[in-house]
Amino acid sequence: MARSQQVLAASLRTSSALMSLLQVTPVLLLLVGSAGGLQVGYYNTSCPLAEAIVQIAVARYHLTDPFFAAGILRMHFHDCWVRGCDASVLLVGPDSEQTNPANNNSLRGFPVIQLAKTVLEIVCPRTVSCADILAFAARDSVVISGGPYWDVPAGRFDGRVSNATDANILPAPFFNVTQLTENFASKGFNQTEMVTLSGAHTIGQAHCGTFSNRLPPTLDSTLNPSLATVLESECNKSGADPNFRQDLDIVTPLYFDNQYYKNLEDFNGVLTSDEALYTDNSTTQGTVEIFADNTLEWQAAFIAAIIKMGNLPNVTVGEIREDHLCQVVNS
Ligand code: HEM
Ligand SMILES: *[C@@H]1O[C@H](CO)[C@@H](O)[C@H](O)[C@H]1NC(C)=O
Ligand SMILES: *[C@@H]1O[C@H](CO)[C@@H](O)[C@H](O)[C@H]1NC(C)=O
Ligand SMILES: *[C@@H]1O[C@H](CO)[C@@H](O)[C@H](O)[C@H]1NC(C)=O
Ligand SMILES: *[C@@H]1O[C@H](CO)[C@@H](O)[C@H](O)[C@H]1NC(C)=O
Ligand SMILES: *[C@@H]1O[C@H](CO)[C@@H](O)[C@H](O)[C@H]1NC(C)=O
Ligand SMILES: *[C@@H]1O[C@H](CO)[C@@H](O)[C@H](O)[C@H]1NC(C)=O
Ligand SMILES: *[C@@H]1O[C@H](CO)[C@@H](O)[C@H](O)[C@H]1NC(C)=O
Ligand SMILES: *[C@@H]1O[C@H](CO)[C@@H](O)[C@H](O)[C@H]1NC(C)=O
Repeated sequence: MARSQQVLAASLRTSSALMSLLQVTPVLLLLVGSAGGLQVGYYNTSCPLAEAIVQIAVARYHLTDPFFAAGILRMHFHDCWVRGCDASVLLVGPDSEQTNPANNNSLRGFPVIQLAKTVLEIVCPRTVSCADILAFAARDSVVISGGPYWDVPAGRFDGRVSNATDANILPAPFFNVTQLTENFASKGFNQTEMVTLSGAHTIGQAHCGTFSNRLPPTLDSTLNPSLATVLESECNKSGADPNFRQDLDIVTPLYFDNQYYKNLEDFNGVLTSDEALYTDNSTTQGTVEIFADNTLEWQAAFIAAIIKMGNLPNVTVGEIREDHLCQVVNS
C-alpha cells in the first residue's frame, strides 16, 4: 500500500474511533488497498499484540479440538479463493458463501476466530481485520500441527459481500488433474503450486460424501483396495451419522508433515483430487515424488504458495469488520 494510503487508513481509523466516542454514527467507512500492499508486521504500532492474541486463541482451541487447526487452514483457502482474502467466508446469511455445498456443514474452527476477534476488539478496537485474523490463525494452525513458521504479510480489509454462487469457484474433490490445473490457473497458480498447496491435506478430515464417488458400485482402481474396504465399511456404518469424518492423511492426520505425498505413492489418497495428482499426469506425479522425498523442499514451496494465496486478489475495497464474531458487516 502506498504510504499516503496508509496514512489515510490510519486517520480514517482514528476519526472513526473519535466519532464513536462522540456517539456519532460513522457513515459507511470503506478502505481501499492495492497490489502487493500487504506488509509483515502491519500491526507493529497499531496493535502490537495482534499476532500474539491470535496465536493464543489457536493454542487454546487446539486443546479442545486439534482438528480445528485443519478447519482454520481450509477456511483461509476458501476465503482467499472467493473474492480474495476478505473474510467473506465468515459472513452469515441466507445466500452467504457458507451455504454453498463446498462449505455447508464442513467449515470448522470458528470459535478460534471469534475468541481472537473478541479480545482484539477490547485491546485495539476497529483495528485488526477478520481476514488478517484468519490468515494469522492459518499460519499458527500449521505451526501448532508441527509445520513450518512463516511471517504473514497483513493489512487486508474485510469485504461486505458474501455470495453463495461465488463459492462455485472452489475446486471439487472429484476433479481430475486437468480440471484442477484449470481451477488453480484461474487464480494465477501453476501446477507445481497446486501440488504444493494440496499438501495441506496432510492434516484434517473429509465427510463420506466427498469421496463416496470412489467406492462401490463405482470403485476407483487408483484407490488402494485395503483403504477402499475401510472407507466403505466406515461410511456404511456411519450412514446414519452425516457428521462422520475420515482422516485425509491416514497415517498422521494431525501432523503437518509430507506424509500426504507418501500416501499418494501408496494409492492411499482419500479424495479423487488427491490421488489424481499421482496417477493422472506425469508432471504432477514427479512433483509428488519430489515432495514425498524432501520435506524441506515442500515446506519452502508451501510457504511461498500460501503467502501468494494470502495475497489474492490484487485489489480490495473493504472495512475493518467490527462484529466480534466476524459474521456481519458494519452497519
Ligand atoms: C486441490 C483442490 C482441493 C480440493 C478439491 C479440496 C477439497 C477438500 C474437501 C472435499 C475436503 C473435505 C471437507 C469436508 O468434508 O469436511 C477438504 C478438506 C481440507 N482441505 Fe481441501 N481441497 C483442495 C485444496 C486445499 C487447499 C489449497 C488447502 C489449504 C491450503 C486445503 C485445506 C484443507 C484442509 C486443511 C482440510 C481439512 C479440513 C478439516 O479437517 O476440517 N485444501 N478439502
Ligand atoms: C514490524 O517489526 C518487525 C520486527 O522489528 C519488522 O521486521 C517489520 O518490518 C515491521 N513492519 C512494519 C510494517 O513496520
Ligand atoms: C446445509 O446442510 C443442512 C444439513 O445437511 C441442510 O439441511 C441445508 O439445507 C443445507 N443448506 C444449504 C443451503 O444447502
Ligand atoms: C450472487 O452472484 C450471482 C452471480 O454473480 C448473481 O446472479 C446473484 O444475484 C448474486 N446474489 C446476490 C444475493 O447478490
Ligand atoms: C477430466 O475431466 C473432464 C470433465 O469431466 C473431462 O472432459 C476430461 O476428459 C478429463 N480429463 C482426463 C485427462 O481424464
Ligand atoms: C510455478 O511457480 C513457481 C513460483 O512462482 C515457480 O518457482 C515455478 O518455476 C513455476 N513452475 C512452473 C512449472 O512453471
Ligand atoms: C456396504 O453396504 C453395501 C450396501 O448395503 C454392501 O453391499 C457392502 O457389502 C457394504 N460394505 C462393507 C465393507 O461393509
Ligand atoms: C500434465 O499437465 C501439463 C500441464 O498442464 C500438460 O502440459 C501435460 O500435457 C500433462 N501431461 C499428461 C500426461 O497429461
Ligand atoms: C493480478 O493482476 C494481474 C494483472 O491484471 C494479473 O495478471 C494477475 O493474474 C493477478 N493476480 C492474481 C493473483 O489474481
